[in-house]
Amino acid sequence: MSLIDAAAAVRLNAHAPYSGFKVGAAILSQEGRVHLGCNVENVAYPQGTCAEAGAIAAMIAAGDRRIAAVAVIADCPAPVPPCGGCRQKLSEFAAPEVVVTMATTAGALLSMTVAELLPGAFDAGFMVHAEKGAL
Ligand code: THU
Repeated sequence: MSLIDAAAAVRLNAHAPYSGFKVGAAILSQEGRVHLGCNVENVAYPQGTCAEAGAIAAMIAAGDRRIAAVAVIADCPAPVPPCGGCRQKLSEFAAPEVVVTMATTAGALLSMTVAELLPGAFDAGFMVHAEKGAL
């Protein structure tokens, strides 16, 4: 099964009663396994989580550590882009050249790298002068 097909399948499990917008995400880890996530909304709206965040949590919980490829899918007019927060979350575990394939349920595809999705990313390299234990 392709990564997009895996994302499409898990999308059907999304809990999205408030937005009505179901999203599925699949991550292929460098370790070679596929990890899945869907959006999980909450009546306290800010407590909801994105599909990408769920897939990342599944990857980490399974013991894998690095992202090799990502697929995200939703039913929308153009391939669904990860939100800003998820771009930062993906960049924690993915090299800049990792490809994120965005899709619609109708079959449209768009591929961009993590660096293209999050130019100028904040990463640990900016923290080399940080004061350790300053609190
Ligand atoms: N959503 C995702 O799960 N991933 C995205 O990339 C975009 C947005 C979810 C969050 C919320 O449950 C719904 O889509 C509407 O914003």
